[in-house]
Amino acid sequence: MAKEFKRYLVTSALPYANGPVHIGHLAGVYIPSDIYTRYLRLKGCDVISVCGSDEHGVPITIKARKEGVTPQEIVDRYHAIIKRSFEGLGINFDIYSRTSSPTHAKNASAFFKKLYDEGKFIEKTSEQYYDEEAQTFLADRYITGTCPKCGNEKAYGDQCEACGSTLSPDELINPKSAVSGSVPVKKSTTHWYLPLDQYESFLREWILDGHKEWKSNVYGQCKSWLDGGLQPRAVSRDLDWGIPVPVEGAEGKVLYVWFDAPIGYISATQDLTPDWEKYWKSEDTKMVHFIGKDNIVFHCIVFPAMLKAHGGYILPENVPANEFLNLEGDKISTSRNWAVWAHEYLEDFPGKEDVLRYVLCANAPETKDNDFTWKDFQARNNNELVAVLGNFVNRALVLTQKYYGGEVPALGELNDYDRQTLEEMGAIKSQLESNIENYHFREALKDAMNFARIGNKYLADTEPWKVIKTDPERVKTILNIALQITANTAIAIEPFMPFSADKIIAMLAVGKFGWEQLGQMGLVEAGHKIGTPTLLFEKIEDETIQKQLDKLAATKAANAAAEAAQNITPQKEECSFDDFQKMDIRVSTILEAEKVAKTKKLLKLTIDTGIDKRTIVSGIAEYYTPEQLVGKQVLVLVNLKPRPLKGIESRGMILMAEDACGKLRLLSPDEKTMSGAIVG
Ligand code: MF3
Ligand code: ZN
Repeated sequence: MAKEFKRYLVTSALPYANGPVHIGHLAGVYIPSDIYTRYLRLKGCDVISVCGSDEHGVPITIKARKEGVTPQEIVDRYHAIIKRSFEGLGINFDIYSRTSSPTHAKNASAFFKKLYDEGKFIEKTSEQYYDEEAQTFLADRYITGTCPKCGNEKAYGDQCEACGSTLSPDELINPKSAVSGSVPVKKSTTHWYLPLDQYESFLREWILDGHKEWKSNVYGQCKSWLDGGLQPRAVSRDLDWGIPVPVEGAEGKVLYVWFDAPIGYISATQDLTPDWEKYWKSEDTKMVHFIGKDNIVFHCIVFPAMLKAHGGYILPENVPANEFLNLEGDKISTSRNWAVWAHEYLEDFPGKEDVLRYVLCANAPETKDNDFTWKDFQARNNNELVAVLGNFVNRALVLTQKYYGGEVPALGELNDYDRQTLEEMGAIKSQLESNIENYHFREALKDAMNFARIGNKYLADTEPWKVIKTDPERVKTILNIALQITANTAIAIEPFMPFSADKIIAMLAVGKFGWEQLGQMGLVEAGHKIGTPTLLFEKIEDETIQKQLDKLAATKAANAAAEAAQNITPQKEECSFDDFQKMDIRVSTILEAEKVAKTKKLLKLTIDTGIDKRTIVSGIAEYYTPEQLVGKQVLVLVNLKPRPLKGIESRGMILMAEDACGKLRLLSPDEKTMSGAIVG
């Protein structure tokens, strides 16, 4: 038997205030949580949705240091950008708070103090890496060095991205501080740990036995953590940015960001309503955490253990974590600027908030990582939103204007096809509800769109624009039905596309509907005068998409250039002048060029070295066509020992420059000179 709940508390992962939010965040967390919350609100449930900026943690201090500003300036900047992005996209939290708020400092501090006073922590002293130059202890992520497993020189203290191994800072060879570049030293420090191992049996029972209905990715991750055995986790850090550890003698120590941030959900609720306790302390509240997959352990294991240790709080009923969204085939990355940023989208596509909401929901990475492409964005807009939803609503409204001056015609007698259509519409409702309630938002969106599909098909099949000439009475019924379906569509799409739902309601000139009206007839009454129809969606042209693709291409080029600059091969060992003099390099002229059969890279060149005419096989076919080469002057090492290449004797080597990506360029004298001229 499903448990009955009286109210809902929806939380969405608090975004780090060290950058704006992008489509990956939106698709993974915020659009699903907004759909869920809007649905419950429409149903008239007691529901609150809380979120806010996560403003502590090392990355924020690093960013501040890099920019030469205070951490507060960083979080103020991004808190404002993120908040505005959410508002712009219609992601309606009941409160968007921040973990630098006074309420939160007090609350998180008291939470820690209670656990501390009750002896729920263990205290441990250990040696940790310390950067003497920057005078700071180093978080694992901020120590780089050589991976002991694969030799990658840019491995992090927690992970090697080249081979995927999980590492600890002690395993790194030649550790270096990513903060100052200096070699860190070991220094002893004391911290408080939450002994997660003591909560293992509670967590096993609660999750593995009690929540088999959780999404398999979530359940599976929890199971593997629990099967691997839990370790005590430090809940404090040596840092000067965060909530001070409220213990005597703990100067210079703050709460670990993953300790304070989830308590931020509680603080946000306190800031929202004095009645906050009923949401957090009453067993008939259903709490749901919306997060991305990298947050699973914190929300399913660590935070619940904290809540359990504290006592008096409810636990989440579900944690519908999503996988990741990629962008045009590559992992979204804030540091590489490989993202579609919410605030930039809002600028580039004013009035198209729902298009992004639609595409991100339709493509949400619910069960596996997914890819966002601009072509798909365009296709979904043009083929689904414009051609189905927009087209249907527009036809229903325009025909009503045209034939009846905007007055809703009366419903006459229904024929079988009418009844069948209405039945079909009525049947979607329960499926839509169950999909939303089970966090299957992609399927739910299809259900919602089916209202418009049914309407579109109904008009196409009944052809009122033809029937009007032969049976005008019948058209009244057809359009009445079409308007009822339009109203139903507005209700069904509201959680997904609230802006468009509002527009339809405004065009129908009716008041807001409630969810209970979904599936009903008579939502717009005969005789009621509707408003002026305008287009819900417009076609997105190729140029618009190309602009976005160009922007991404520019990012790619900038990244490649930055990477190449980092990848300059170190200088070779010294050589003597005599060594150099041994090489006989001549300006030569290419006389003939042809592809070497059955190879991709090789060209057979006939060249005039001034000394003789000879054949050289060169690996430049990927960069030059034979036509481009004939007549060109190049530099050739002529006294290189001849060697056979693909059965052709190659006598000498054409000199080329190779960039960090392996791209080859020929070297030529800057103006024509004689073949045989000596280079040296
Ligand atoms: N800032 C974290 C992230 O973006 C999420 C924090 S969720 C909270 O991954 F529960 F800790 F608040
Ligand atoms: Zn490695």
